Amino acid sequence: MFGKIIGTGSYVPENIVTNNDLTKIVETSDSWIEERTGVKQRHLMKNETTATMATEAAKRAVENAGIKPEEIDVIVVSTVSSNLILPNTACFVQEQIGAINAFCFDINTACTGFMMAYNTVQSYINSGLVKTALIIGAEGLSRIVDWSDRGTCILFGDGAGAAIVKASEAAVFETVMKSDGRKGSALTCYNGFATRPRKIFTEEKQEISDIYEKTNGQESSDTFVKMDGQEIFRFAVKEVPKCINELMEKMNITSDDVDMFVLHQANLRICQGIAKRLKISMDKVPTNVSEYGNTSSACIPILLDELFKAGKLKKGDKIIMSGFGAGVTLAATYLEIC
Ligand code: UT7
Repeated sequence: MFGKIIGTGSYVPENIVTNNDLTKIVETSDSWIEERTGVKQRHLMKNETTATMATEAAKRAVENAGIKPEEIDVIVVSTVSSNLILPNTACFVQEQIGAINAFCFDINTACTGFMMAYNTVQSYINSGLVKTALIIGAEGLSRIVDWSDRGTCILFGDGAGAAIVKASEAAVFETVMKSDGRKGSALTCYNGFATRPRKIFTEEKQEISDIYEKTNGQESSDTFVKMDGQEIFRFAVKEVPKCINELMEKMNITSDDVDMFVLHQANLRICQGIAKRLKISMDKVPTNVSEYGNTSSACIPILLDELFKAGKLKKGDKIIMSGFGAGVTLAATYLEIC
């Protein structure tokens, strides 16, 4: 048995930053950003944190599903940009919503994260370990983006999306997941404490001395997102269609059998490039990148929430979701609305 999505929720900050606003801090233009990325604006945190956005999205999903928080067996949060390392963001959400019976953990697979969270809880449900799962993609990317780098800062936004997945005889599940660590350097962000001065005990001198730790040659400036945009672009447009085709072959279906392709909202041109390679119309590829920018692992659940709320996903619809990003990582997952 697998799980079906019985409720969704999302949260984006009220604070909207337009492309024109960005021209005040980096040399760029509204037309360049829109032509190259499809982004018109993004929502950026003011008083929120990644953990509070995750909590709000979770509350909305729980309410939408019509369940009690006590029914949730597991909470998985996907994030690369949480304000929290300890405790994990999932435990924070648990405490905030009163999901006292859940076990909780975070995962980091960047923009593929929501797919990985979904696939993980499907495996738990299939093994009989859990019945009801809360999965969340939450990102406060504005805290890790370098606002002086026009090559990256124009692309990203903040937000969170969540879904409740519950065991159901009717649910159908299939997936293909991949990673290629050899391309890891194309999109990086080192942890702040790796470059922080620290005290260590040196046996030789029998004293405590200050050192500046460096790992893999990273510097403190590397604690912001650094991206080889073209490399990531090429990877996405080439590998995502392959991954989706592999999934369809595995299921013995074609793109004609699929009603909608819910893709990570990396960049409108990437979505168009994937559609072109799959030979599918953009009518089957919903997008909202113009409003929110690229919110990494929050993109797919925010989009799903919007589609459900707009009545665009109906019983019997066959969907393929695909996330892809840093690592590099990618996944394509089949979802049937039931
Ligand atoms: O979520 C998964 C992770 N990320 C992605 O999926 C991102 C994938 N990559 C992309 O979306 C695109 O590569 C970007 C939007 C990041 C960049 O677009 P691009 O078409 O690949 O531009 P580029 O980096 O090749 O730059 C072209 C030119 C350069 O100028 P020169 O060297 O031709 O004179 C850049 O310096 O555009 C310049 N440029 C800009 N100009 C105005 C770069 N950023 C900007 C900017 N405004 N914001």
